[in-house]
Amino acid sequence: MIKAAGLTKTFGKTVAVDGVSLQVGKGVIFGLVGPDGAGKTTLIRMICGLITPDRGEVSLMGYPAAEIEKARKSMGYMPQRFSLYGDLTVMENINFFGSLYKLDRDTINRRAGEILAVTGLLNFKKRFADNLSGGMKQKLALTCSLVTRPGMLVLDEPTYGVDPESRKEFWKILYRLNKEGMTILVSTPYMDEAELCKQVAFINKGKITAIGSPSSLKKDFGFKIFEIRAGTRDPEIFNGLPVLKDVSFYGDKFHVAVKDPAAALPAIGEWLAGKNVEMMSCKEVEPSMEDVFVSLAEKEVL
Ligand SMILES: Nc1ncnc2c1ncn2[C@@H]1O[C@H](COP(=O)(O)OP(=O)(O)OP(=O)(O)O)[C@@H](O)[C@H]1O
Ligand SMILES: [Mg+2]
Repeated sequence: MIKAAGLTKTFGKTVAVDGVSLQVGKGVIFGLVGPDGAGKTTLIRMICGLITPDRGEVSLMGYPAAEIEKARKSMGYMPQRFSLYGDLTVMENINFFGSLYKLDRDTINRRAGEILAVTGLLNFKKRFADNLSGGMKQKLALTCSLVTRPGMLVLDEPTYGVDPESRKEFWKILYRLNKEGMTILVSTPYMDEAELCKQVAFINKGKITAIGSPSSLKKDFGFKIFEIRAGTRDPEIFNGLPVLKDVSFYGDKFHVAVKDPAAALPAIGEWLAGKNVEMMSCKEVEPSMEDVFVSLAEKEVL
C-alpha cells in the first residue's frame, strides 16, 4: 500500500528525515514510533504527498508520486493538529468535512451513523466540539477522516496527550477498523502503543533505527533485561558500571540491559554494596519495546 524509498527532507540546517525507506503492506497496522522531533510528521507528510521530499520516492496504492492524487481519494488522513470547529456540533463538523469531499447529505448521514457507533460518539451528535473531552475530540477527528470510507488510514499522533483510558479506547477502534480490512499507518511517541502494532518502525533523529514486528524486534534484541528494585531512587546510581549496556529508571524500579548475566549480576551486587545501597529484588523480565528502543537510540548516538 505504501512504498517509500530514501525519503529525505531538510529544513534549513535540520535534517528532519534522513534517507527513510519503508513498506506498509495491505491490511497491517504499521506504527511509526519515536520521540518528539524525531521526524514522524515530516515523514508522514511526504508519504501523503503534502510536502515534496528533497530526495527519495513514494508510491501509494501502486500510484507513483506524480499520480498521488488518485491514491489520496481512497486515503484518510488525520493530521497531528486536526482542525475541528469548536462552535459547530459533532454532526455539523462531520457534515462540513464530508461536504469538502463533495459527499451528499444522505451519504454523510448514513456513514456518520455507522462510524459514530464505532467511535462511541452516537449520543454526542449535538454537542459542540469545544465541549468534548480531549479523547472525544480525537475520536471526532477520526470520524471525520473516516467519512470518505478510505481503504487506508494515516494518523499522525492521534493519541498524543490523551488520557490512558481514552488511548485504549482509541486503539480498540483502530483494531476494529483493521479487522474490517483497513490498512493503518499511525505515528506515536508511546512505546506501549508500539506493542499494539503488527509492524513497527522506530524513528530517531530522522532515521529509522529498526523495523519489524514487536516480537521479532524483541527476539533480535540480543540483551537480557533485569528489573531491579533497590534502596534508592537515584536514577544515576549505576552510572559508571561498565557491564551494563543501558539503564532506565521507571519510578521505583530500574531496567538494566546486560549482555552476559553471569558476569553482570555479581558486578551489580558489588556495585550497590559498595555504595551501601540495599538490593531489594532482581529478576529477569521480557524486554519491552521501550527497552529495545532505548538500546537502539543509544547505539545511534555512539
Ligand atoms: N516546517 C518546518 N520548518 C522548520 N523545521 C521543521 C519544520 N517541520 C519540522 N521541522 C523540524 O524537523 C524536525 C522533525 O520534526 P517533526 O515535526 O517531523 O517531528 P515529530 O516526530 O513529528 O515530532 P512531534 O512528536 O513533536 O510531533 C524537528 O527538529 C523540527 O523542529
Ligand atoms: Mg509530529
